[in-house]
Amino acid sequence: MAKAATKSFAIRPATRDDLKAIVGLYNWAVNQTFATIDSEPLDTEEAAAWWEAHGKRSYLLVAVEDHGVIGWARLLPWKQRGFDVVESLVYVDPVHHSRGIGSGLLKDLIKHARGLGYRTIVASIAKDNRAGLALYSKLGFDHVGTIRDAAHKFDRWMDITLVQKSLES
Ligand SMILES: CC(C)(COP(=O)(O)OP(=O)(O)OC[C@H]1O[C@@H](n2cnc3c(N)ncnc32)[C@H](O)[C@@H]1OP(=O)(O)O)[C@@H](O)C(=O)NCCC(=O)NCCS
Repeated sequence: MAKAATKSFAIRPATRDDLKAIVGLYNWAVNQTFATIDSEPLDTEEAAAWWEAHGKRSYLLVAVEDHGVIGWARLLPWKQRGFDVVESLVYVDPVHHSRGIGSGLLKDLIKHARGLGYRTIVASIAKDNRAGLALYSKLGFDHVGTIRDAAHKFDRWMDITLVQKSLES
């Protein structure tokens, strides 16, 4: 049976007031999942620095419902200056997975990445992160390669898959 369409969330640019909820979602993933290689939750100071690093060619979006932020997505320049590549991150509250929120956020990120003049958008995703890889494949990202033993978390080594999509078309 087809999934029921859910229209009860909205996507908008993040404001500084959203930061606490954004970091809450991120830190949950840090502590409970392999979705990020990060194993240390961001403290208030680090979260503030992360917000401040939100420069001209970056972008931060939130998905919101009546009771607040239920997902977020960010563009940030990839590696050092000179690359015309932007990295994307998408995090959705686990309670709200599989409602199309990740797809909605990533579609908007792709649109904004084009608007910011980037040529290529990428993401690095744990090789066994099925939901993450499925989301990006669905939106037309190709696997570029896998970095083996990229990070050590929860007592095991993690492989990271790099995916990319051209923003030219
Ligand atoms: C990856 C993530 C953002 C997906 O968010 P979501 O709101 O559940 O995504 P959607 O409902 O839009 O689903 C998008 C696609 O992902 C796939 N998917 C979603 N959940 C899945 C699961 N548990 N297992 C396998 N595939 C899954 C489906 O193909 C789905 O498309 P379809 O339903 O149209 O077939 C979410 O699981 C998440 O926050 N994970 C932790 C952070 C992360 O891994 N981010 C990606 C790397 S930055």
